Amino acid sequence: MRAVRSRWRGWLLRFVLPVAVAVSLIAVAGVPLLDRMLSGWFRGDVQLRAHLLMNSMQAPLAELVARHDLVQGEAYLNRVAADERLLGIEVCDSAGHELMKSSSWPKLVPCASASASPETTQVQPDGHAALDISSFAVDTPASGRLWVSLAHDLSFIDRRQSIARRYLIAFVLVLVSALALLAALVVRVVVGRWVRLLIGDIRNRRFVDDAASPSLVLPLLSRIRQTLREVEAQQRLEIDYRENWTPQALQHLAREYLEDTPILVVSNREPYIHNRAADGSIQLQLPASGMVTALEPVVRACHGTWIAHGSGTADRETVDAHDRLAVPPDEPAYTLRRVWLSDEEEAGYYYGFSNEGLWPLCHQAYVRPAFREQDWIEYQRVNRRFAEVVEAEARGSQPVVLLQDFHLALLPAYLRERLRRATIAHFWHVPWPNAETFGVCPWKQELLHSLLATDVLGFHTRYHCLNFLDSVDRYVECQIDREQMTVTLRGHVCKVTPYPISIEWPPRWLAGLPAADAAREAIRKRYGLGKDVRIGIGVERWDFTKGIIERVQALERLLERHREWRGRVTLLQVAAPSRSRLPAYQALQQQTIASVEHVNQRFGTADWQPVVLIAEHQEPKMVYTLYRAADFCVVNSLHDGMNLVAKEFVAARDDLDGVLILSTFAGASRELLEALPVNPFDVGETADAIVAALQMGRAERLERMRLMRRTIKGHNVYRWAGRMLTDVVQIRQRQTLRALRAAS
Ligand code: G6P
Repeated sequence: MRAVRSRWRGWLLRFVLPVAVAVSLIAVAGVPLLDRMLSGWFRGDVQLRAHLLMNSMQAPLAELVARHDLVQGEAYLNRVAADERLLGIEVCDSAGHELMKSSSWPKLVPCASASASPETTQVQPDGHAALDISSFAVDTPASGRLWVSLAHDLSFIDRRQSIARRYLIAFVLVLVSALALLAALVVRVVVGRWVRLLIGDIRNRRFVDDAASPSLVLPLLSRIRQTLREVEAQQRLEIDYRENWTPQALQHLAREYLEDTPILVVSNREPYIHNRAADGSIQLQLPASGMVTALEPVVRACHGTWIAHGSGTADRETVDAHDRLAVPPDEPAYTLRRVWLSDEEEAGYYYGFSNEGLWPLCHQAYVRPAFREQDWIEYQRVNRRFAEVVEAEARGSQPVVLLQDFHLALLPAYLRERLRRATIAHFWHVPWPNAETFGVCPWKQELLHSLLATDVLGFHTRYHCLNFLDSVDRYVECQIDREQMTVTLRGHVCKVTPYPISIEWPPRWLAGLPAADAAREAIRKRYGLGKDVRIGIGVERWDFTKGIIERVQALERLLERHREWRGRVTLLQVAAPSRSRLPAYQALQQQTIASVEHVNQRFGTADWQPVVLIAEHQEPKMVYTLYRAADFCVVNSLHDGMNLVAKEFVAARDDLDGVLILSTFAGASRELLEALPVNPFDVGETADAIVAALQMGRAERLERMRLMRRTIKGHNVYRWAGRMLTDVVQIRQRQTLRALRAAS
């Protein structure tokens, strides 16, 4: 009851009172105006009446005066003056003597003087109401000029004015009440309905889709919904780039903080490769690279430039005079700038120092790194070439440069010489070895000094960051802050941070793929597998770090120990040839083929092979179909920075089935804790893990997969790029602040 009373008091105060005050003010200002207007009208009326009367009296009066018949005359005047508002009539001669008058003529009013004709005066004799005296000159042939005065009683004007005032006040009161009531009703019914609709919209998120909202006829509501949609989109973006990274969130971040900043991505491998096919046509190849997926939204958003080695056989034919081309070719959004290398340069920089020196140095796969002087010279030369190109493409002295991988380790130092104020981030896509292992590199000082010239140096895991800091500690005279994970060298601060790379979520390749059952059927048919044969899958570049031979040996061990699985499990091994002109890779290919042949001969039958080696590059759609068909996936890398196959397998399994076996020496094992962990050097352990995968109950499989999917969904590739970019932005803001301070 009290609530109802207070609500009414609220309405009264908010609506009725303001309306009443406003209308009363108008009324107060309007009353004198009304008075003046009414008085003007009535007086005008009286004068008009006097004129009309005078016109009708003129002839009879002239005749009566000519006859000197005063008795008849006064009788006539009394008759005319019987009108209610006409108080009296008086006739005077031109000398101001009264000739005759009606009996009601007011005593104190003197004869009209001959000053003007006609004349109107307002008089108020003592004890009498206000009078209007209208005097007219009448020229008669017998008596010359006469003055006729008509006295009208004006008291009726006051009476009418006060009646009008009362009406006005009553009208205002009724109007105020009606308006207040109407206002209250409008607020209660219409606004109340809008508020309810809006609350419904917000609660049920109807505003997201305008068509789903009722009452679209109300333009005001539509506008509010539009605003809600915009606010919601903005909020979603902000939440996204803190919790749930998307390409849009990444673009938003790049646009908001780096819109006018030149952004350059530099990598050895290019995002678009043009090759001349056997039939002479030019074909576009898109390397299925997580790095390209993650960095493209950033370069796109800032219309940046991607600088990379032009390695395709038709690359030179597809660039302009400045070695540039707009990409993606079907929807150009940024520039690809190709860098050309001679055969000697490619041999020394890419095959030599990068892949025979740094690659085995960083991966503990026990392949001895080769450090050749000539390779080092080419490596320096090519890194300098990249530095020249970056400077040429930078459009200013303060670009943001995002460097990729071990091919470009000297680029930070060369860039600092040219672009002192650039913000440089470098991501090292492979592991960083421990200090002792790294110490064998003859040019360790140069490599470390160069990498310390970056502002942000990223690795996949904290473990690799700590290995790097240990190497710096041992070989470089500098200041290390292990709390902040920074290294200060000659006043320059380098932040060393883990950014675990990932895959896009959901992977675009999944669109249109068959469901798991259908994929399994298709794969069984394609590789001639029997109905009861369980499918294992391995997918990699044919590289000695991947443990492909150890995987085949693990399967052999399994078939040795578990006769029951003979004829009932097959490993489909995709091995995409890579760096094939290097002896270590050629040897690996031969050894792999030999191991596969060995196990197939030992256990294979006419209609079943333990291992099917698919020794060629497979398009992503095919790879994802294989993932979906598999009962288990083996990722037993001997050493790996991250390993994206493990994450892709999990992403492909929207049916939640399938078991992942994962090397503890792959960076991915730090995130995918529900995989079955293996030491890839322990063949027996890997064999046991495969058996465990084959025997695992469905409920456990689903739960493990569900948890891993949740991890990757949150830790997707946009988060990788986004976190790095956020750090770059922060460092840039601090640098600007320092520059301002120095200038002041
Ligand atoms: C792997 C590594 C990357 C490296 C790439 C080079 O994917 O993880 O760090 O950049 O190989 O491959 P490529 O075929 O270009 O030598």
